[in-house]
Amino acid sequence: MAKAKRQYVCQNCGSATYRWQGQCADCGEWNTLVEEAAETAFSAKHDLSKGGRTIALETLDAASPMPERMLCGIAEFDRALGGGFVAGSATLIGGDPGIGKSTLLLQAAGRLAKAGKSVVYISGEEAAAQVRLRAQRLGLGDAPVALASATSVRDILATLDRQTVDFVVIDSIQTMHSDLIDSAPGTVSQVRASAQELIRHAKDSGAALVLVGHVTKDGTIAGPRVLEHMVDTVLAFEGERSHQYRILRAVKNRFGGTDEIGVFAMGDEGLGEVANPSSLFLTDRSGDVPGSVVFPALEGTRPVLVEVQALTVRLASGATPRRAVVGWDSGRLAMVLAVLEARCGLQMGGAEVYLNIAGGYRLTDPAADLAVAAALISAFSERPVPSDAIVFGELSLSGEVRPVAHDALRLREAAKLGFSRGWGPKGMKGVNGIGVTGFGRLGELVDLMLGRD
Ligand code: TYD
Ligand code: MG
Repeated sequence: MAKAKRQYVCQNCGSATYRWQGQCADCGEWNTLVEEAAETAFSAKHDLSKGGRTIALETLDAASPMPERMLCGIAEFDRALGGGFVAGSATLIGGDPGIGKSTLLLQAAGRLAKAGKSVVYISGEEAAAQVRLRAQRLGLGDAPVALASATSVRDILATLDRQTVDFVVIDSIQTMHSDLIDSAPGTVSQVRASAQELIRHAKDSGAALVLVGHVTKDGTIAGPRVLEHMVDTVLAFEGERSHQYRILRAVKNRFGGTDEIGVFAMGDEGLGEVANPSSLFLTDRSGDVPGSVVFPALEGTRPVLVEVQALTVRLASGATPRRAVVGWDSGRLAMVLAVLEARCGLQMGGAEVYLNIAGGYRLTDPAADLAVAAALISAFSERPVPSDAIVFGELSLSGEVRPVAHDALRLREAAKLGFSRGWGPKGMKGVNGIGVTGFGRLGELVDLMLGRD
C-alpha cells in the first residue's frame, strides 16, 4: 500500500507544499508551515468524464422563496446582519480575545431561546458551568438554551441530528476537531474540515449556524482565509478593550449589504445596544478649544460624530520633529501636512504633530481629510474652530476639496445633535437649519480660519 502523502500547510494562508520551508512561498510569513495529512489521494487514473450524473440547470427567473429570517431581538446585531439570521446559513464572527464574542452570542442565543426558538450553544473553550454562570450574570439564567462543552464534530453532529434546531453557536471553530482528518485542532485542515461538516449540516437541517473565529495579530480570522469563503456571512467584532464601545461590522454578507454596523457598549450586564453612537464618541467638549474639530464619519449608511484632536509643538531648529497618530492612518496625515505646507504655505515641517481620534475610534472614511486639516490649522494657529461646526471633505494632492458621499446624511446627524454649521466641499446644501460653507480649495479654509483675505 502506498504511504499516505504528507504535506506542509501554511497556517497563515493555507497554501500547501510537499517540502518543509522556513518561509511560506505564497504569503511570505515565517515559521508557519506545519505538517498535515494530505486530504485526498487524487489519482491521475480517475477519469472525470465517466460516471457523473447530469445536473439540472435552472433559469434565473424561476420563482424562489426569500430565505427565512430570524430576528434575535438585539436590534444592533440584527442590523449588522442585514435583518437577522438566515435559516440554513453559516455566519463567522471574528474578533480579538476578550472583545465580547462569547458574551454577544450568548445574549443572542438567550433572546432567541426565550422567543421560542430551539437553540444550542456549544463551547469548546469554556466548561458548561462557566457559560451558565455568565448567562446568569447576563440575566439569562432562565432562557431555555441547550448548552454543552464539546469539541468533537462527530459528537456534535450526532447530538444535533436528534432534534430540530433553529440556531447553533460553535464557540470557537479553532477548538473543534473532526476525526476525518488526523491533524491537531486549530490547524488549517482541521478548521476547514470541521467547518465544512458543520456548515453542511446547517444547510441540510435549515439551522442558522454561527461560528466564532479567532483572529491573528493583524486582525484577519486566524488560520485559513478559506473559512471566509465557506460561510455566507463574515462579521468582525472590533473595538479597543480599554474602551467600552464595540462595533460589529459585516465584512461579507451573501444575504444583505456590508455597509451596516451595530454599535454596543460593554457594561456590567453584558453588551448594551448604543442607538446613538455619536453621544459615545463625542467626549465632553468644553467650548472653543484650538485643535479640536468634530467630524461626521460615515459607517455604512450611518453617521457617527467623532472628535478629531490635534496638537502641534514648535521645535527649536535642528531637532527631528515627532509625528504620532492614534486612530488614523499616519500616511494620510503626512499627506495632509504636505498639502498644507506645499499648497497653503503653512510651515509645519519643523513642528511636532500629534493627532488623536477621541474615544478610541478608528477612522477610515476619506472625508476625514478636511477635518484633520482644520484641526491641524487650528492647533498650529491656536485659533479654535467654532464648537458648533462640523467639518468634512476629501483632499486631493493639489489642495482641492473633493465632494464626498452622503453629505446630507452627515449634516442631518449633526443638526440632530445641536450643531449649526457645516464646513465641507463646495456645492453642498444646508439641511435642517445647518448653515453650510463650501470650500473649493484647502487654501480657502486656511484663509477663513486665519482671518486672511
Ligand atoms: P468574552 O465574551 O469572553 O470575549 P471573547 O469571547 O471575545 O473572548 O468577553 C470577555 C470580556 O468581557 C471580559 O474581559 C469581561 C467582559 N465582560 C463585561 O465587562 N461584562 C459582562 O457582563 C461580561 C459577561 C463580560
Ligand atoms: Mg470567548
